[in-house]
Amino acid sequence: MQSPHHLRCEYFTNPIGLDETKPRLSWLIRDERRGAKQSAYQVQVAGDVSLLQSEQPDLWDSGNVESDQTSHVEYAGKKLTSTQRAVWRVRVWDHNGQPSAWSDAASWEMGLLKTSDWKAQWLGVPDASIIADPEDDSLIASPILGRAFDIKKNITRARLYITARGLYVAHLNNIRVGDDLLTPGWTHYGKRIRYQAYDVTDLLHSGDNDILVTLGTGWCVGHVAWRQKIYDNKPWLLAQLHVEFEDGKTLTIASDESWQQATGPIRFSDMLMGERYDANTPTPRIGQGDWGPVETQPMDKGVELVAGVGPRVRKTLEIKPIGVTARPDGVFIFDMGQNMVGHLRLNVTAPRGTTVQLRHAEMLSPDGSLYTENLRKAKQTDCYTCRGDAQGETWEPSFTFHGFRYVELTGLPTGVSPTLDTVTGIVVHSDMPHTGQFECSHKLVNQLQHNIEWGQRGNYLEVPTDCPQRDERLGWMADAQVFAPTGAYNFETAAFITKWMVDVRDAQHDDGGYTDFAPEPMFKEPGTPKFPPHGAPAWADAGVIVPWAIYEFFGDKRILERHYVSMKRYLDFLSERSTDFIYIGQDSNNYGDWLNHNANTANDLIGTAYFARCADLLSRSALALGKKSDARKYASLFKKVKAAFQRRFVTPDGRLVSDTQTAYALALNFNLLPDALLPRSAEFLAHDVQHGRFGRYPTNNRQPSITTGFVGCSLINPALSDNGSNDLAYKLLLNEKYPSWLMPVVHGATTIWERWDGWTEKKGFQNPGMNSFNHYSLGAVGQWLYSHVAGLRIDPEHPGFARAIIQPQPGQGLTHASFTYDSLHGRYRSAWKIEGDTLHIDVEIPANTGATIVLPTADAGRVKESGQPIDKAAGLRPLSPDDEGRVMLDAVAGSYRFRVQPFEVG
Ligand code: BGC
Repeated sequence: MQSPHHLRCEYFTNPIGLDETKPRLSWLIRDERRGAKQSAYQVQVAGDVSLLQSEQPDLWDSGNVESDQTSHVEYAGKKLTSTQRAVWRVRVWDHNGQPSAWSDAASWEMGLLKTSDWKAQWLGVPDASIIADPEDDSLIASPILGRAFDIKKNITRARLYITARGLYVAHLNNIRVGDDLLTPGWTHYGKRIRYQAYDVTDLLHSGDNDILVTLGTGWCVGHVAWRQKIYDNKPWLLAQLHVEFEDGKTLTIASDESWQQATGPIRFSDMLMGERYDANTPTPRIGQGDWGPVETQPMDKGVELVAGVGPRVRKTLEIKPIGVTARPDGVFIFDMGQNMVGHLRLNVTAPRGTTVQLRHAEMLSPDGSLYTENLRKAKQTDCYTCRGDAQGETWEPSFTFHGFRYVELTGLPTGVSPTLDTVTGIVVHSDMPHTGQFECSHKLVNQLQHNIEWGQRGNYLEVPTDCPQRDERLGWMADAQVFAPTGAYNFETAAFITKWMVDVRDAQHDDGGYTDFAPEPMFKEPGTPKFPPHGAPAWADAGVIVPWAIYEFFGDKRILERHYVSMKRYLDFLSERSTDFIYIGQDSNNYGDWLNHNANTANDLIGTAYFARCADLLSRSALALGKKSDARKYASLFKKVKAAFQRRFVTPDGRLVSDTQTAYALALNFNLLPDALLPRSAEFLAHDVQHGRFGRYPTNNRQPSITTGFVGCSLINPALSDNGSNDLAYKLLLNEKYPSWLMPVVHGATTIWERWDGWTEKKGFQNPGMNSFNHYSLGAVGQWLYSHVAGLRIDPEHPGFARAIIQPQPGQGLTHASFTYDSLHGRYRSAWKIEGDTLHIDVEIPANTGATIVLPTADAGRVKESGQPIDKAAGLRPLSPDDEGRVMLDAVAGSYRFRVQPFEVG
């Protein structure tokens, strides 16, 4: 076995500024041999790499631990203190007891763990010095705060700990600190604020130094949740620079009254409205220009400062426009070729004082002009006033982001036309490892997958949002829960969701109800117990469903542990608010099967189905955490709610009282039906999909049609495939006529739309009051593409892909499909291809794991692996066939090539 690699701590590579005092370590092992296993590991941790080299791990030596664990190995050494640096390495033993060499060293570093570590004060601009935008006085210029300082000695280590109520970008000696955007991110600022820590050792030097920090309004002060200045009425900075010298002495430069403030070139910034930049107002240098005193505010002990290690929002891609059109009215419209989220980099040559305006939108109107109606109050407009540099000038906004495919550019001098090099699209989102790659033989399905991924890129931006363009952009809970599994296949979402679950808890009501979205910026006003809205079926349930998804995908028990009490409180809430175990939701906010196609499902059916689901998942969470009596308690609650569901909603012949696709999909996926009625209910679902409900769907649409909204869209295809109608699930996927997943694709969509009919050939655009073209929810079908079509599934007995179930389910319309997934244990792959009467299946199972392989045939005699009958193939052990009689195998780690012949789809 080669030495372990990809060493990470809390999902990050060499993180700085952690506040987990028992950080969890993980690594990957490399071994191509079939059945390769780690039989033991040893982790050593020291304060310095030289101590590791000399075999003196002064912080922790795990010794030889007999275990196959390679992720979430909890640090169990000496107590870690603020700013402490730890360097670590690991070696492993293989299944024959042979040790690997030590890995390369990796590191982590603690942040400021105690409030008393913070010497800084909050700094802002006195109200009288705040400069409002002349056109809209609610938008304010970005202040710059800074100071100079002198360094006389040789520096060994320097760290900047920094945050803002608002947003910040820091420069040390004119060099930008880090490459993160929109920091410190969004939390419930009244309760907790994240700070970031940066290694700035190389940005400082002996002699004169300066620090300058520009502030933006962001979520804290700017427009969010249909209001403005919700958390604060102006931005504030908190910063602390720690410098260590060769002689062991230290220097701390903390934000305090010695700092000064001035106004720079950003004339206003706002997440929804955009940014205005005047390049003729230069960034002031300390000691020159118009600086004034700062306003200070002591730290508020009631607000927790927490480590904001990541994942950080960053630029992840650049894209060039595919076209630019001159319009008769003199404006130019760029087509970026992709509905994207982020901003543009502008590159212009124009006389001094020229103001170039960029308006961003997702669509064009039929006359080719920019379609902005669906943005509601969000202006998404950036303006840049040129310096007039003869060689041209380049600019990017700092504190805003937009959702757009098209950009209208105005303001260039008459006669000057932009080129495709005038703008570059900067794609911005929470930077997570891209783990899943799905590909198949159907061009439109590949584009659908592309759209799913781009929907996630645009909406996993600091929190999982509903949409990135209109005046909303909130962490809507149902959207997040229906998409969570799809999202966790495509990107490593564990750290992103871990942060968001804290937002979810911060928003949770005293009565245990989770809110509709999180963070929930509308402070609960005293005496209004129902405000903000909470307890909505399928929305509030994200509080239980999402952490469970993270546990299943990443084996992360800590998220369950941290969230456990909160989940219990939610189950109490549901129990108290239900009548005879039927939960209908509350009056104020009940969204039903949101945006379904003429097929409403009763609120109490949805509410009760989710109540049962949450009881079931809490029981399983309790079991995972070793809380056996709770596991029994919630299992029994699940049974009671299930019985109530059957009494109220299931007729003796297996029909459900809300006779909708969503009702059946919920009942079948959440295990709410009596066994005897399963086949009948599944038939009713298939009949609805095939023929429409009461024949009332459009007659031009004889193809199987989807009518679910957000609630049913992730569940319907698994319900069909798992209950004897895999062929129909494929037909549903491949329908190109409205309502369907592929209709938008046929019409050029590059992201998932909010509504099935966001735009139709017949009616054009839907009501602009709610019509986003970048909403990931309906893309939740992705989960089925990966788990059923390609066939890589979680093994519930072995969360985190410590083992997997590989069960490709080919169907009519595709001739090949493959999914490659980089799990915490390494790369899995499931790929199939039909050639003539032969089905080829290639499987990769990473070292130290295994899989149960279920083949789409009942005849083991038709199957060969690398040319061998399966009972002769190394690493495979035949198991009893599954319920459908399909061939089942136990496989050890390794690569396998199966051939099934003859094979017929269907
Ligand atoms: C959002 C949704 C959300 C819904 C709740 C909409 O405005 O965009 O995605 O779940 O409200 O009703």
